Amino acid sequence: MASLKHVLCLCLSAWTITAAEDNVPKAEKLKWDSLDFKTIIKWTTEDSDHKYTVSFSSDGDDWRESQDCIRMSDSECDLTGDLVPYDRAYTADIQTEPEIVNYDEDLENYPHTYSDPFNPYRESNISAVNITVEAMDESSVMVNITDPLTGIHTRGKQLSIRDVFRNDLKYKISYYKSGSTGKRDVISDSSTAEVSKLDAGESYCFMAAAFIPSRPKRSQQGAWSQEWCIPGGGNILHELNLGVWVAIIFILLTVFFIIVTVTVLCCKCCRQRNSTQLSAPV
Ligand SMILES: *[C@@H]1O[C@H](CO)[C@@H](O)[C@H](O)[C@H]1NC(C)=O
Ligand SMILES: *[C@@H]1O[C@H](CO)[C@@H](O)[C@H](O)[C@H]1NC(C)=O
Ligand SMILES: *[C@@H]1O[C@H](CO)[C@@H](O)[C@H](O)[C@H]1NC(C)=O
Repeated sequence: MASLKHVLCLCLSAWTITAAEDNVPKAEKLKWDSLDFKTIIKWTTEDSDHKYTVSFSSDGDDWRESQDCIRMSDSECDLTGDLVPYDRAYTADIQTEPEIVNYDEDLENYPHTYSDPFNPYRESNISAVNITVEAMDESSVMVNITDPLTGIHTRGKQLSIRDVFRNDLKYKISYYKSGSTGKRDVISDSSTAEVSKLDAGESYCFMAAAFIPSRPKRSQQGAWSQEWCIPGGGNILHELNLGVWVAIIFILLTVFFIIVTVTVLCCKCCRQRNSTQLSAPV
């Protein structure tokens, strides 16, 4: 009798599981969204009456559940704090569960959707940096780049991309002379870079982007910063335009003309007076 009941029970639970699988929609269109190491997995679903549990694993390690994404209703999960160490390929698993779960059932039987592997160190996008540019002398400037902060917090400190990439982080600085189309790039190992051999007195514009040569080509470069232009400082003669030059020459010519006229008139006048004096009988 006991065994018959057991069999009946098994059958019943098998039936409910199959039913559950049929009714519970799989998560679809899984997508990694990662900027400055803040990494979120997103997915789409047919309806909102289900719960999702997100697990992750790297390189065949055990699956671990993401603590903030257990039986939740959202269709995205922030895995920033879970994907450590950063330089590994992680796969996420989204399990869909019904609103009400019978815990006697084997949860493993609900539908799973697996993501493409994602490696934060190699694939997280890097946002635009802030730069300042200061003229050092006539032909060189100092470009000062602020390392963007990441989404990673460890021991109460928010890490910058320099903290994460260390020596792998370079910056690409692109610059051009005002009014010219030719751009030049320089790669800098550090966040402050001197750009030299500029033409004295010319105006230049600069931009910078994070550059990680150790990454695959398509993710090597971060977003470009805003442009920062410096006026052609140093030599004021370069700054004056044609109109100013014409005016200066005109003024100089006028002054010269006036001096000459006055001198000539004066001389004539003097000579006349002298000759009158001489010719006059005493
Ligand atoms: C990185 O940015 C590109 C362009 O905006 C986007 O297509 C891609 O999905 C982003 N990658 C990640 C991992 O967020
Ligand atoms: C770069 O800029 C930051 C912020 O503006 C400033 O604190 C720092 O001293 C600058 N570094 C250099 C080398 O100019
Ligand atoms: C750049 O500076 C602006 C304003 O000062 C700030 O809001 C922004 O977060 C900074 N960006 C980075 C990447 O530091």
